[in-house]
Amino acid sequence: MDQHVVTWPDQGNARIPYRMFSDADVYRAELDRLFLGPTWQYLCLADELPEPGDYKTSFLGETPVIITRGEDGEIHAMLNRCAHRGNLVCLKQRGHTTDGLTCVYHAWRYDLTGKLTSVAFRRGVAGKGGMPESFKLEENGLRPLGVDQFAGLVFGTLSPDAPPLSDYIGNLIGARIGRVMRGKPKVLGTTSQILHNNWKLYIENVKDTYHASLLHSFFTTFQITRLTTGGGVAIAETGAHHASYTIGGQAADKSSSDKAYSNIHSLHEDYRLQDPRFLDTVDEIGDGITLQILSVFPNFVLQQIHNAIALRLVLPKGPDKTELQWTYIGFEDDDAAMTERRLQQANLVGPAGYVSMEDGAVGGFIQRAIKGGEGECSVIEMGGHEHASQETRATEASVRGFWNAYRQTMGF
Ligand code: FES
Ligand SMILES: [Fe+2]
Repeated sequence: MDQHVVTWPDQGNARIPYRMFSDADVYRAELDRLFLGPTWQYLCLADELPEPGDYKTSFLGETPVIITRGEDGEIHAMLNRCAHRGNLVCLKQRGHTTDGLTCVYHAWRYDLTGKLTSVAFRRGVAGKGGMPESFKLEENGLRPLGVDQFAGLVFGTLSPDAPPLSDYIGNLIGARIGRVMRGKPKVLGTTSQILHNNWKLYIENVKDTYHASLLHSFFTTFQITRLTTGGGVAIAETGAHHASYTIGGQAADKSSSDKAYSNIHSLHEDYRLQDPRFLDTVDEIGDGITLQILSVFPNFVLQQIHNAIALRLVLPKGPDKTELQWTYIGFEDDDAAMTERRLQQANLVGPAGYVSMEDGAVGGFIQRAIKGGEGECSVIEMGGHEHASQETRATEASVRGFWNAYRQTMGF
C-alpha cells in the first residue's frame, strides 16, 4: 500500500478516518509495517516456561511464533513455520518436549533455539534420492525473533530496527509496569474471546478512560468509580504507551459533592450487591492507586483493577475480527485469601465480566455503524489536541497518543 493513498485530516490525531478500521489494504500494511516491523510485542510470562523444553505458541500480528525455554536456560522465540515447506511446527498452545521440535509433515527436526538438526531421508534410500550435498542444515533453521524481558514479561520482535526493549518502554511506563509486576507471577487462569471489530477499536477502548463511568452501568449502579476521583493518564512521549490510574475512590464512597457523577443516574438507585466480597480490596502495592490500566504499543495491556491483575493480548484476525486473550495472575507469595480475592474481583473483567462485557460489545457496534462512512472521521478532542500526560481522566489524550505512534510507524 502506497503511503500517499492515506491523506490524513488536517486536525491530526484528533480525527481518525473510519476506513482505518475496515480497509483491507490498511490492515495488510499493518501486518507488515507494525506487527512484523520495529515494535516489541508481548509473548508470554517468563515464569510460564520454567523448565528447558517448555514451549508456548503465540503470534506477531497474524504470524505464528514459538517461544521456548532452551537447554541454555534462556528464552528463545522463532517463527512457527517449517523451513521446508512452511508447515506449522508446533500445533499446540503449550507443551513440553524432551527431543526438540519436529515438523509432522516430513519430520524435519529443530532444537529449542530453532536450529535444524536433522532431515529425514537426507541421504536418500538405498543410495538413491536424498538432499544434494549443497544442502546445509545451518542455512535452514526457523527464523529467530529478537527476545527480551521486562519485569518478567517476555517481548519479541522480528525487526533488527527495534530499539532495545527498555528504551522502547521507557522509564515513565516502565515504572508503572514495575509497580504491578513486583513479585514472581503465578497464572490463575486464562480466557479468550473473539471481538467482531478491528483490533484498534479495542485498543482505543483500553486507552479511553473517560467512558468507564458512562458505558459501564455496573460501576455507576454500585458506585465503584467516578471521573472526579483522583487520577490521570501517564503517556509516553511518542504517545505509544499509556497508563491511566485512579487514586483511592473505594466503593460506596458517597461523601463528595460530585456534580459530574450525580448527572449520571443509575437506573437502580437502591441496588446493592448481595455478595459484596469482591469489593473487599487490599492496597497491596501501598500507593493508594486502586486502578491502573496500562498499554504497551501496539497490542499489550496490563490491568490492575483493585486486586485483579491481568495481562491482555490483542491479536488481529482480519480487518474486522480480533482475538482478545486474558491471563489472570497472582504472585507466588499470595496467601489463600488473596488468591480468592483476586479470583472474585476477576468477575469484573473477561468475556462476560460485569464491566468488560460492554467493552467487548461496543467495538462491534462501531464496526457495524461505520459501514458506508469510511471517508468520515471520529472526533477525539476530549482534553485538547495533544497527547501529553494529564492529571485528569476526562481526556482522550492517550487515544491521540496511540494514533501518533501508529501514524509514525505506518508512515501515514
Ligand atoms: S513442511 Fe516441515 S518437514 Fe516438510
Ligand atoms: Fe471499558
